[in-house]
Amino acid sequence: MTHIVTILSSKGGVGKTTTAVQLAGALAGEQAVLLVDADPQCSASKALGSTAAPRLALGELLEQPGAGLAQGVVSLPNRERFALLPGDPSLMDRREGLERQLARESILRDVIEEERAASRGNGLPYDWVIVDVPPDLGIFAVNALVASQWYLVPVQTEFLAMAEIERTLKFAEQVRKRLNKPLQLLGLLPTQYDARTDMSRQSLLSLRERYGERVFDTVIPRSTSLAKASQAGEILAAAARPTPAGAAYAALASEARARVSGLDRCAKSAPTSGQGSSGSA
Ligand SMILES: Nc1ncnc2c1ncn2[C@@H]1O[C@H](COP(=O)(O)OP(=O)(O)O)[C@@H](O)[C@H]1O
Ligand SMILES: [Mg+2]
Repeated sequence: MTHIVTILSSKGGVGKTTTAVQLAGALAGEQAVLLVDADPQCSASKALGSTAAPRLALGELLEQPGAGLAQGVVSLPNRERFALLPGDPSLMDRREGLERQLARESILRDVIEEERAASRGNGLPYDWVIVDVPPDLGIFAVNALVASQWYLVPVQTEFLAMAEIERTLKFAEQVRKRLNKPLQLLGLLPTQYDARTDMSRQSLLSLRERYGERVFDTVIPRSTSLAKASQAGEILAAAARPTPAGAAYAALASEARARVSGLDRCAKSAPTSGQGSSGSA
């Protein structure tokens, strides 16, 4: 069974791309993962240092029904179990054409379903598909959500923007109601947490107060190692040198696995529960 997750927020700079790359990399420690870079800015592909060209670019895949998802996928050198569907800068120019297509919201889902159908019952060769999208909540984000069962919302704890969180959740809820009933929130992920600042501590408290169990136990700390990792194509959870940020993304991968299998609900009702990491780690 493949779990498809869109990393979603209407706000830029909250850590969507960083989370897409680092979570995908952490999951790939044990399971097969495909990262889909559906942002025309291609930040996730750049962060992975990937220059390999697929047989078909994402824009071509979306415009040619029946081509097959695999045509757009490249493998990442020295990374077992971790594949990439690279970003495509031409998506920006193709956008208007895609927006005029019939059933334009489900083009990516159709591409994925065609691949599933071609597998003759074997399903997709991935345990996880993680999709990075731009913050505009436009056609690429809608396509990602329609193709997903889950979405994860990174929330910057430094400048907690409740209105943006609400806007993001409302948008996903509309997509769920109208286009993709099985879509569910995987969780709100506190990012860029700095335990030394009142602002961060207050933001985290307010977030937990307001959204309760919808917030992951895992908190991603503010860390220069993440900024460096995205320039060096590094996966922190897999790095030889342990870092708090790497440990946090590894903890997020475990929590995501537990959430998709419903285990966390059992764990939370048990008296000895206490999983997750703290951002100050
Ligand atoms: N936890 C973090 N600590 C420090 N810097 C971070 C963290 N997460 C992201 N960043 C940096 O913040 C910037 C925005 O992150 P990014 O993941 O690109 O956000 P988005 O995709 O939501 O626009 C990038 O420069 C990234 O390296
Ligand atoms: Mg981004």
